[in-house]
Formats: sequence, C-alpha cells, structure tokens
Amino acid sequence: MSSSALRNSDATALLQRVARPEILAMSGYVSARMEAGAAEVILNANENPYAPQLDGVGDWQINRYPPPQPEQVLAQLAELYGVTSAQLLVTRGSDEGIDLLTRACCRAGVDKVVYCPPAFGMYAVSAGIQGALIDAIALTDDWQPDVDAIVAAQPKLVFLCHPNNPTGNLMQPHRLLALCQRLSEQTLVIVDEAYIEFAGVPSMATELRQHANLVILRTLSKAWGMAGLRCGAVLADAAIIQLLRKIMAPYPLSIASQALVAAALADAQQVIARAHITTLVQAREQLFADLTALQRRQPELLQTVWPSAGNFLLVQVADADKLVRTAADAGILLRNQSRQPGLHNCVRISIGTAAENRRLLAFMETFCQ
Ligand SMILES: Cc1ncc(COP(=O)(O)O)c(C=O)c1O
Repeated sequence: MSSSALRNSDATALLQRVARPEILAMSGYVSARMEAGAAEVILNANENPYAPQLDGVGDWQINRYPPPQPEQVLAQLAELYGVTSAQLLVTRGSDEGIDLLTRACCRAGVDKVVYCPPAFGMYAVSAGIQGALIDAIALTDDWQPDVDAIVAAQPKLVFLCHPNNPTGNLMQPHRLLALCQRLSEQTLVIVDEAYIEFAGVPSMATELRQHANLVILRTLSKAWGMAGLRCGAVLADAAIIQLLRKIMAPYPLSIASQALVAAALADAQQVIARAHITTLVQAREQLFADLTALQRRQPELLQTVWPSAGNFLLVQVADADKLVRTAADAGILLRNQSRQPGLHNCVRISIGTAAENRRLLAFMETFCQ
C-alpha cells in the first residue's frame, strides 16, 4: 500500500469519530451542474437561455449556473499552496471554511470547539451559530497555544491562527504539531494561515502528509488583495475535503468571482501581487520602527507596539476608545481590540499605502502629544 493510500484511510477512520454521523450518512445534494457535463442544448437546470446584455462580462455566460468547484481555480490554488486538487476545497473566503468545518463536525449541545483568544472572532461565532459547546482557552502569556489545556478539553475542533490576528505573532510550529499528534484520534487541528504570506515562513501545509487531522485555511483576501471576490481554500486530507463537499452550497463561487480569480492568479499578476506583499512587509517594518520611536518618546500615551508577522500592527494606548474615536474624526478607521482577553486598551492598525501610513503616523504623533 502506498503511503498516500495509508493516509487516506487514516483520515477516513478519523472522520468516523470526528464528523457528525448524520453528515457521514447523507449523500449530499447533487446539482444539475454536477450531474451532467457540457452539451449543445442545456435544458436540465431551469436556467434562462437569455442573459442580460452587459458590457465587460465577455463570454462568462452568467445565465448559467457556475461549476461548483471551478477546475481552473482549483488547479491554480493547488499549485499556489503546494497541495493536490483533491486536498483542496475552494470556498467563499476562509469564513466559509470555518463555517463548513463547524457544521460538518459539531452537533448542537454535544460537540466542542476550542478557540484560543485573543483570536479572530469568527471561530466562536460559527460555533455559536451551530450551537456547539465552546471552550475559550486563552493563549499563554507569550501568545502561544496552551497545548496541555487544549488536549485536556478533548474538542472536536481546535482553531489556531498562524500568524495570529490580532496579536500578529506566529504560533510555534512544534506546538501546532504536538496538538496534531496528541489529538490525532478525535480532533481536527485547524490552522488559519490568512496572513502567512506576510510572515516569511513556510505554510504548515507541508505537514498534511504526516497528520491526517491537520486542516489549513488560506485566503485570497489579504496578501492577494481580493477580499471583495470572496475566495479562500480549505487544505486537508482528500477524505475531509470530500466530507465538506457534501455540505457546501451547491454553487459557492459566482461566475464573475471565478473568472476574476483565475485572471488574478495568472503568472504576470502573481509577479505584481508578490511585489505588493514585499511593499507591505517593508511598510509594516517602517511603521513599527516609527511607532516604536514615538512610544519611547511618549510611553504613557503609547504604551506598547508589538512586532507583527501580518499586515497589521497591534498597539496599546492609555485610552483605546479615545484613539479610535479621534482617528475616525480625522478620517482614519482603526479597530479597537479592547474586548479581547488580555488586550485592554489595544488597537489594531492595518498597513495601508505609503501615503496612508504617513497620514496615520502624523495622526499618532499629534494624538500622543
Ligand atoms: C485570521 C482570519 N481568518 C479568516 C478571515 C476571513 O477571511 P476571508 O475574507 O477569507 O473570509 C480573517 C479576516 O479578517 C482573518 O483575520
């Protein structure tokens, strides 16, 4: 038996314990587009043969339902993320990946989701909508996962963000792998890599071969500048992807999104996008240096500036409400993170263009006088 065959059977056995039994048992909706291939006369999906006459939509055929998992985008993303098409589900942003995993695995009032605040908010929201039990196990003082506490909680799903939003730090890979190892029998360890392109470290996707319970979330919303198109991906063992395909919306991505994502991932566009990533990382380091210098001059008003591996910085100030309000009055939107455990008076600042960052810095200099 080849090693990949062995791994698939591992994941299939794991899913018997992790997935909701009713989802395992059901066959899932088969749409007209899934059931039949191309033909000259398409009369199987109650579509309208007449499309709106719009400029700029080319041959998109927007009167037809789109392919549920567009082959070209699937192949482009699989190449970008270093996995096979069978290990990848194309989703409407990684928000949809979080939701699908939660719905596939958690029975209301029975199964548990662990997330580790301070963290991205959607893990708890999706778990709450599903009625799952929720265990918030805080990151340690140095913002790392508390491996023993998470293992002791015995969840169905654990969500970790690498680099973490909003703190900006990377999780130590050995801790993520220890979780995969110690929870290999009953838990999916979901590593959200929404910001990994800004971190200059390899994706944990290289570990998918070794760990059947590892799931990675990726998105085109951040480094690739396509938040408005809503496109992300779940990377996991093929058996897990098959399970999620059963419960995904029949046609997750519109034809317009599919066409624009495919165009934006063409080679020439990738060169441009990678240059933007470099620019944003340099701008992040510059803003970090400038804000740190300001912090040294005004330590009572600007108390901490943390380094970041994402496209944002986290700062702690004397009065976060006042900072966010005054910034909004000056035309600058910032995100108050004070409601997150351990982040009293903390504010998250996204990295913008050079001009936007200069304006932000000038505002901070004035605010901290
Ligand atoms: C850590 C993290 N994961 C996922 C998302 C959702 O991204 P998407 O636009 O792909 O749904 C965000 C968005 O801010 C995020 O910060």
